[in-house]
Amino acid sequence: MTADPPDNADLDQLREAACQCHGCDLYQDATQTVFGAGPSNAAVMMVGEQPGDQEDRAGEPFVGPAGRLLDKALADAGIDRQDVYMTNAVKHFKFKPAERGKRRIHQTPSRTEVVACKPWLLAELDRVQPELVVCLGATAAKSLLGPSFRLTRHRGEILEFPENTGKSGVARITATVHPSAILRAPDRDAAYSAFVADLKTASGAVK
Ligand code: URA
Repeated sequence: MTADPPDNADLDQLREAACQCHGCDLYQDATQTVFGAGPSNAAVMMVGEQPGDQEDRAGEPFVGPAGRLLDKALADAGIDRQDVYMTNAVKHFKFKPAERGKRRIHQTPSRTEVVACKPWLLAELDRVQPELVVCLGATAAKSLLGPSFRLTRHRGEILEFPENTGKSGVARITATVHPSAILRAPDRDAAYSAFVADLKTASGAVK
């Protein structure tokens, strides 16, 4: 049982330690901790909200419907997913059971849960030291840029990484929509094109 990442642990050791995290209650109902995945020297780190139903079962981030859309958008933006370190602001799936049937309905994590999980995200940032962090959606953006950050106002802007977040070496950060928002958008084609444009801007900001 733990709540904080161990000092001096490498990514594999962090991943193992995160499996024992009881920093909030989400571990109780989730199948497993879904830690980040990707190269430890990635220039780009993408941060989603939390694992979904399929990620919870597979133990890997972004392998469900949102992940498949993200894969296509990355390819269309000329970014190789294999080069990206993918993770989430919260490492456990939060859900409620559907009223009928076995479906598990996604629930947005609370601010308390996001704050409880932040030390793990900061530890990943510290080990990977990406040139650019891409926040996918408001939950990730608010975790790293503060609760007053407005995605609608600052979407796609390349910003300095906030000093008070305590991780030196991470140069810049940007935020765009979450890929699941595109799956729900009334004009899906326009939403998808704008998402790919944001990913291209992000890619252009990396040396
Ligand atoms: N949505 C997320 O934010 N992260 C995942 O890993 C999957 C879906």
